[in-house]
Amino acid sequence: MKRLTYISSFSQPLTADEVAQIGDRSVTNNTRDGLTGVLFCFNNVFYQILEGPEDALNRCYARILKDPRHKDIFCLEVENDIAQREFGDWAMKTVRLDESGDSLIRPIRTMLNSLARTHYVLERYSPHEVLTGLQKGDNPLGWTLKTSEKTILFADLFSSTTFAENLHSAAFERLLSVFYEIANRSVTENGGTISKLTGDGLMAYFKSGDAGNALNAAIEICRRLDDVRKNAKEGDPTALLYAGIGLCSGQVREGNVGSKLKYDYTLLGDSVNSAARLESVTRKVDALVVFDDSLLSRIDTPSALRGLGLYQPKGKSEHLKIYSVNYPYTRRTIDLVELKRRIVALKSERAVA
Ligand SMILES: Cc1cc2nc3c(=O)[nH]c(=O)nc-3n(C[C@H](O)[C@H](O)[C@H](O)COP(=O)(O)O)c2cc1C
Repeated sequence: MKRLTYISSFSQPLTADEVAQIGDRSVTNNTRDGLTGVLFCFNNVFYQILEGPEDALNRCYARILKDPRHKDIFCLEVENDIAQREFGDWAMKTVRLDESGDSLIRPIRTMLNSLARTHYVLERYSPHEVLTGLQKGDNPLGWTLKTSEKTILFADLFSSTTFAENLHSAAFERLLSVFYEIANRSVTENGGTISKLTGDGLMAYFKSGDAGNALNAAIEICRRLDDVRKNAKEGDPTALLYAGIGLCSGQVREGNVGSKLKYDYTLLGDSVNSAARLESVTRKVDALVVFDDSLLSRIDTPSALRGLGLYQPKGKSEHLKIYSVNYPYTRRTIDLVELKRRIVALKSERAVA
């Protein structure tokens, strides 16, 4: 037998009757399927323990995961091969903790609240795969590296060191958050996943078959940054917010890397390194988005395709054909020395003012 414990949040406010309906349906189904457990609900949070035969429990949990009445489902524990049930008398005991005046319930409420808060925080720091694995009841610590095909996107802010040196920390933080907000939205709206933030840039990936979406995300980042620059007031550093983006498609190894003490869920391989190198090419050519044949061969040829010639990556003997797309906002119209000069000038403008 298996036991599973998870926490989730209401996706919209639920009345007492609606919660009771969940409980009633659960009792009917669980009695039929030989499952038992308890469902606490408090302050828009569900906390459920479900136990019983593995197959029946997996089927039930798959239904629960798809239920639109709750979201942010986070599996706290999976116990396989349990010998005994803890809640054998309850097909599903549903307890609304907000209603109970029992003083013993208070510490449970506090504990559930702090669990929900911890989950909210962890969700923002943890890799997407790790969260999805936990949600399904897997233990990510046991995962080994696997091979898959992905498109990798690297985006990096231009002249971030000069910004950091010349702006007040609050202004620099604001600049970074404008950039990350745009990059995050553009990647996720196109079905990509942010793999890591690198301090002044990010790495994202798109699943096999989504190379075109990755290119769209890169174009979208450039278009939105162009809007921000055009709408910036005089003296606002966002007028100088540019990023270079490199894209590459191919096989990667993905999974846990690190030591027993500290793991990172990451992607490794030639395509990852190449995407990072192609990003750095944006500093040498007049294009803000650069990709190679690995991506082009996986998409319909874009009407705005622009050849950039040949490029020899560091440490490689062969030359790669590299490309960009021809939109006004994907062109790098500013020289990087000039960009630095203008960032430094922001500081002196502030000093004069
Ligand atoms: C927080 C929560 C807990 C649930 N627990 C159970 C459960 O223990 N057993 C169950 O069959 N359905 C449970 N459900 C309902 C399922 O998501 C799903 O709606 C139901 O199993 C569908 O049953 P039906 O196919 O008989 O309509 C729960 C739903 C929510 C939101």
